[in-house]
Amino acid sequence: MAESVRVLLTEEEVDKRIKELGDAISRDYQGETVHLVCVLKGGVFFMCELAKRITVPVTMDFMSASSYGSSTKSSGVVKIVKDLDEPLKDRHVIIVEDIVDSGRTLSYLIKMLGDREPASIKLCTLLDKPERRVTDVKVDYTGFEIPDEFVVGYGLDYDQRYRNLPYIGVVEFN
Ligand code: IMP
Ligand code: MG
Repeated sequence: MAESVRVLLTEEEVDKRIKELGDAISRDYQGETVHLVCVLKGGVFFMCELAKRITVPVTMDFMSASSYGSSTKSSGVVKIVKDLDEPLKDRHVIIVEDIVDSGRTLSYLIKMLGDREPASIKLCTLLDKPERRVTDVKVDYTGFEIPDEFVVGYGLDYDQRYRNLPYIGVVEFN
């Protein structure tokens, strides 16, 4: 089956929005250090760009969680493949995600990381598909709300491909 990618959000639109999110975070965390927690692998492109736009002090850590299921649907069972290197106690944590879809991965992660006694914990996602939500996840910073379509690029993959696209596209099967 042949597939192609249709542009949904251009590189310029994404970059402009990330700068706005960086400005908002810099304003909200005046006088604090922000600890960005990246959910690998999808969140990494977004987190690097976001971190460059934040003007208050930033520290970063990385974790990897896999939700069992097919390549296009998550099952709700989350496995921590790589945990964080450092404790979260008393830090101002922002979890940085590529996309919130059903919300299952994040509701699990927020609970798990919240138990580590951070000073605060917020959630920042580049993309949100609100129509698909099955759990009650509060997103504090959202790049774009998008329709229920399978997207790739800017870290998001289809079978591990397309993560390196500098824009967000929709996979179309011809
Ligand atoms: P959730 O647990 O259903 O909210 O989604 C968890 C993960 O599924 C996300 O972090 C992505 O890695 C992946 N995912 C959900 N929707 C898409 C998509 O449209 N394209 C690529 N990956 C997606
Ligand atoms: Mg992800």
